[in-house]
Amino acid sequence: MAILVTGGSGYIGSHTCVELLNAGYEIVVVDNLHNSSVESLRRVKEITGKDFKFYEVDLLDSIELDKVFLYNHIEAVIHFAGLKAVGESVSLPLWYYHNNITGTLILCKVMQKYGVKRMVFSSSATVYGLPEQVPIAEDAPLHATNPYGRTKLMIEEILRDLHASDPLWSIAILRYFNPIGSHESGRIGEAPSGIPNNLMPYITQVAVGRLKELRVFGNDYPTVDGTGVRDYIHAVDLARGHLKALDKVIAETRVDAYNLGTGRGYSVLELVAAFEKVTGRRIPYTISGRRAGDIAICYANPAKAERELGWVAEKGIEDMCIDGWRWQSANPDGYMQEAHAAAK
Ligand code: NAD
Ligand code: WQD
Repeated sequence: MAILVTGGSGYIGSHTCVELLNAGYEIVVVDNLHNSSVESLRRVKEITGKDFKFYEVDLLDSIELDKVFLYNHIEAVIHFAGLKAVGESVSLPLWYYHNNITGTLILCKVMQKYGVKRMVFSSSATVYGLPEQVPIAEDAPLHATNPYGRTKLMIEEILRDLHASDPLWSIAILRYFNPIGSHESGRIGEAPSGIPNNLMPYITQVAVGRLKELRVFGNDYPTVDGTGVRDYIHAVDLARGHLKALDKVIAETRVDAYNLGTGRGYSVLELVAAFEKVTGRRIPYTISGRRAGDIAICYANPAKAERELGWVAEKGIEDMCIDGWRWQSANPDGYMQEAHAAAK
């Protein structure tokens, strides 16, 4: 019996593959490599000393996806595969709706055909939109503010409808807050293509000399120092949350949503200060205007995940910074160096 990991060569997927393999699970990975490199999976094998099957398959290709289920005995699916860039989703909404929603529909149909009804799904704190209050609990109002967020919200509803139609479906919806940091080996990590949209990869690329300075998007928010506050969570803690959710969907048939965050917010300047402290690198920055669509403060109430999944985030902001830096400093071009070497 194997766990199918869609999007398994991506940032969170690769970290989860490591945790699954270390916990003794057999895994099968499906990814179309749109936003990742097969090099990450080679390194997952290197870190764990374990082998697994990889299929370069697009979820939109139902025929090829069907074969993955035909040739493997899949017990449950951890579904990471999706497009995730907010700005891109505003410019290319049809692509986002098609890839994320149709991809999930096809996956669910194939799962149904093979009687596989257990899923852990990657949702996002973005489904809370502009929160009315913090910390945010799972029963807070849901309101996405961009096409990417709406794909997550719609998929959550589709999964709830599926469970309502057949209570044997067992689904954990995980709403991630802001994942940063990398595996402690420094061998796998976040490798955004082009200029990073997110704060932490931007900071690490400034530190490594790829980018000149950080632009801090606004210092006039009602926060500790005027800069935006977020709930940063270490990728390894997040990955471990998936194993707890997997235990849950195997033990019980239900559909439920869980926040995965630490419950503590840090401002942009607090994150910069923590990074500078543990790495000894200075991060030059300038203050610029607010980024459109940004909110002031967002952090989780993670009590439900602790109560019902037995999961709590264990790593602190300094671990996130040091591990993120270990990855970036050893791999200034992400996975590109090795990919180029392999192509020669
Ligand atoms: P990622 O881009 O690194 O990984 C996603 C993977 O899915 C990539 O390897 C990509 O090639 C693959 N993929 C995309 N569409 C596919 C398709 N149609 N068929 C097959 N493979 C496909 O992103 P990540 O940061 O690892 O995020 C994983 C999941 O978690 C995503 O669903 C994302 O929306 C969600 N999420 C991420 C964050 C974050 O900040 N990283 C926060 C909340 C939620
Ligand atoms: C964090 C803070 C910025 C970059 C996004 C998505 C969300 C989720 C996680 C997937 C904010 C500030 C950032 C920079 C800055 N992804 N910032 N300079 O916006 O909370 O969430 O990623 O589901 O859907 O919207 O994360 O890392 O972009 O920003 O000052 O160059 O850093 O304004 O306050 P965000 P982020």
